Order: sequence, then C-alpha cells, then structure tokens
Amino acid sequence: MARNTIARIHPDAVAHNLGRVRESAPGSRVMAVVKADAYGHRLDLCLPALAGADMLAVATIEEARAIRRLGNGLPVLLLEGVTDPGDLAVAADLELELTVHHRQQVKALAAFGRPVTPRIWLKIDSGMHRLGVEAAEAAELHARLLELPGVRRVNLMSHLACAERPDHRLNARQLARFDQAVAGLEGEHCLANSAAIFNWPAIHRDWVRAGIVLYGISPLDAGTGTDLGLQPAMTLTSELLAVNRVPAGEHIGYGGRFVASEDMLVGVAAIGYGDGYPRSIADGTPVLVNGQHCRLAGRVSMDMITIDLAGCPEAKIGDPVVLWGGVLPVEDIARAADTIPYELVCRITRRVRYRAQAAPVAVSKVK
Ligand SMILES: Cc1ncc(COP(=O)(O)O)c(C=O)c1O
Repeated sequence: MARNTIARIHPDAVAHNLGRVRESAPGSRVMAVVKADAYGHRLDLCLPALAGADMLAVATIEEARAIRRLGNGLPVLLLEGVTDPGDLAVAADLELELTVHHRQQVKALAAFGRPVTPRIWLKIDSGMHRLGVEAAEAAELHARLLELPGVRRVNLMSHLACAERPDHRLNARQLARFDQAVAGLEGEHCLANSAAIFNWPAIHRDWVRAGIVLYGISPLDAGTGTDLGLQPAMTLTSELLAVNRVPAGEHIGYGGRFVASEDMLVGVAAIGYGDGYPRSIADGTPVLVNGQHCRLAGRVSMDMITIDLAGCPEAKIGDPVVLWGGVLPVEDIARAADTIPYELVCRITRRVRYRAQAAPVAVSKVK
C-alpha cells in the first residue's frame, strides 16, 4: 500500500481566498501568482479555483507551458520575462505576456522582429535592486517598446522590498521613485503583492499581484491567514507508523537531542525532511494526532518524526497526523523552523501524494 503522506489541497479555500483579495482591493484587477507549482499547492488542483482571476503570473516559461497544457486560456505574465531570445517564439506561441526588466530584453524583442504579445509589463527598479530597469531609462524604454511590432500597451510595474511594513522608510522612497519614473507615461500600474493588498490600500492602483494569500497564508510577520479572513488551502497529513513506550532518561532520535524527562509514549509518523518537513524544526513544535495537540520530540529524520503523545495517550498505529493546515497554521510551523511559510509549502517533495478535497473546517474569521 502507498505511504499515507498526503498534501490535501482545498480548491474551495483557494476560491474563497481569491474572493478575499477582491474584497480587499475592490478597485483593482487581480493577477494570481501561481509560480512554483502554485506555491507548492499544484497548478492542476488550484487553477480551476482561480478561474475568476483577471490573469495569472509565473516565473518561468515551463510554468507557463504547464498552464497552457492544462487548457487554461487566462492571460499569463512571465514575471521575469524571457532571458534566452530563443524563447520569444515559444512565448508568442503560448500567447504569454512579458515582463521587460532589462534593456537587453528590449533589444532581443526588436531583433525578433515579429509580434510576441500585445501587452508588455515594464518593470522599474524603484529601489529593491533585484529586477527592473533604472528609473531614468523608463521613459525611453517605454517608447521603444510601444514601437515594437504588435505591441499596443505597456503597463508599469515595480516590486516593494518591505510591503509587509507600510511605515518602513524604504517604501516611501520606492514609491516616490516609481511615480517619478512613470510620470506622463501611459499604462496601468501594478505594485501591490499580498502584503500590500491587505496592509496598504493606497498602493493598490490598477492591478494587484496576489500570491501567498491565495493559498490562505499570511504574508505578514505576525499572525496567520485566518486573522485576515483567509482559509488555509493545504493540510499536510501523515499517519503513525509506530507507538512506543520510552522510559525516562532515554534519548530519542538522531544526535540524542531529546531526552525523556519521564516515561513517555512516543509516536513515529511517516514524514521527514525527505518529504519537505523541515529538519530545522524545534522540539515542542505542535503536531496533531487524531486531532489532538501533541509535540515534536527529537530531530526530524529523512522519512520520520517522533512525537510526544502525552496529548493523545490512546493513539495507535495508523492514526492520522496533521503537520500543518486547518487549526494548525503553517505560519506557526514556519516560525518554529526559523523560516517563512512560503518556503515550507514550496519545498514539499515529489514523494508526497496530493489530493484535492474540501477544506476540513470553517476556520475563516476576521478578528
Ligand atoms: C514580482 C512578484 N510579484 C508578486 C509576487 C507575489 O508575492 P506574494 O506571494 O507575497 O503575494 C512575487 C512573489 O515572490 C513576485 O516575485
């Protein structure tokens, strides 16, 4: 029988979360960011729930191809544009929209000489210094893009380094640079990611780019998606492979990190860092066994974890284990692993099976 380590994906939650984005940014159109296989939630399971988005955005041409293979006809933006000029024909074929973040990409499009897309998104580096043309070259490149065959519109976008903290001083600087760079240029504006959608209405503008919140996860440093009225779209589950009595004074797991301070009942669950459950996670991290709160005890191995079953003394082999999702927010698990929830959901490995099913409980409540 297959190993019961399963990422349960809740498309109804994704649809609900898209609705929350619409409510939060009522004057903007919504670009649904589905890169990294819908942030580890699987494109094929999530796309039907995102049919109400105005467009999709991905990082790579392979991700865009996967969208088209699934028969999805929504407009798709390549957030990094095309680096290899050889990919321009593919982009045209797949009817993709391009980000242009570098002068070299303008040259490549001009050299291509044939229409690729009627709408281009000119990305301006307003101060994050990752991707984007310099503010001073924006007007020139905007004009050159509009001269390319088939191009009818050039939209204007930028990305903010600290959107989760609207009062951060970098924000005002980035915003001022962007507004100065695009003054007088025609085109719709797109600045807001998930954090800005919920935290910073002043920059919603024409388009918002919604990523992590579609999956029910908070982009903010504190709190959870539920606090924002979102529903978690993934429940990561496994089952107990063994239930063992461990006497006081014994060490549990690799390195003997955890020492039993009293006689304990220890459950061994079929999930480890080979599945994407982080090895860096701390002893005491919550885990649900039969829906009851228990705690991790000992280092995460490649295929297994060990759990202090004090919270579920009647547990037996085969009982269900929840690692995150539902009432166990992935945001809390990420904090226990000293990472961000984006990383946890994106790095689930291929041996975990995926299953679409309705969200387990109504956990959405705006505080
Ligand atoms: C350019 C760009 N826009 C939007 C997003 C979506 O961000 P979030 O998931 O925080 O909404 C990302 C994600 O990394 C991005 O790189």
